[in-house]
Amino acid sequence: MDHWSSAAYSSAASFVPKLTSTVVQYLAPRPTDRILDIGCGDGILTAQVAAMVPSGQVLGLDASQSMIKAAQEKSASSNCTYRVQDCAALLKSAPSDVLNGSWDKVFSNAALHWILRYAEPKASVFEAVREALKPDGVLVFEMGGAGNCAEIHAAMVAGLIARGIPTAEAHAASPWFFPSEAWMRKTLEDVGLVVEKLETEYRPTKLTPKTEDGKGGLEGWLKLMCAPFLDKFKTQKEKDDVVRWVADLLDGIITRTEDGSQWMGYVRLRVIARKSA
Ligand SMILES: C[S@@+](CC[C@H](N)C(=O)[O-])C[C@H]1O[C@@H](n2cnc3c(N)ncnc32)[C@H](O)[C@@H]1O
Repeated sequence: MDHWSSAAYSSAASFVPKLTSTVVQYLAPRPTDRILDIGCGDGILTAQVAAMVPSGQVLGLDASQSMIKAAQEKSASSNCTYRVQDCAALLKSAPSDVLNGSWDKVFSNAALHWILRYAEPKASVFEAVREALKPDGVLVFEMGGAGNCAEIHAAMVAGLIARGIPTAEAHAASPWFFPSEAWMRKTLEDVGLVVEKLETEYRPTKLTPKTEDGKGGLEGWLKLMCAPFLDKFKTQKEKDDVVRWVADLLDGIITRTEDGSQWMGYVRLRVIARKSA
């Protein structure tokens, strides 16, 4: 099921592709680079990367039809194309022009914590990346790390439990995998990638402003990013009730008294890992 909507993404999470100066600096695009973007979303960031490689090529992959449609309409160019692809199954189902050792760089922003959640085994995603990269090519990514948005994560699980869903089932409904540095280092090294940089940053992040229609702010974020949790409920009323309950619970915790802005405890895990020459 496609839980993503490019319109909801731009009203509730437009900051995601913007807060990327560090990971793009680590990517260090060169004009001729061929770059694969895993979980490219609506292509806003992918297109920025493509503009930095005028003689190269960028291919964005994403499982969401809605996101890829938006990317094709708004962010495509002669050197930047997009395809629907479930990257949790990259090793099994990627077309041969992806896993062919022809890519200088594999890039990902804010997507691997979704992709790894359902990948089986999780290391298969990085095996696929290794197959895609040229010898000496690099994987550069940023994703949610251990403890990412823990307040929202806990409140959402609590919202399910409060409505009678068993605790284990409520945890299993989470669509995210937020790994520690230790897990990530071992997993990358086990598939033969050489870790050159691995860092975690606690980065409190300001949400988009609240809106009357509930599409922005915390409510908008919850409706979009927590949609897989909400699948536990049949009716729209039940879904709306749990979103309101979680938003009310968090309001007093994440709202700043000086200006009413709402901030979430984003934890970012950033990595540069190289395939041996
Ligand atoms: C928070 S968005 C990030 C999008 C983009 N990289 C950016 O920086 O704006 C996460 C993206 O991961 C994608 N995603 C989630 N699970 C995926 C999967 N299994 N395979 C491919 N993409 C996936 C979603 O469709 C969504 O577009």
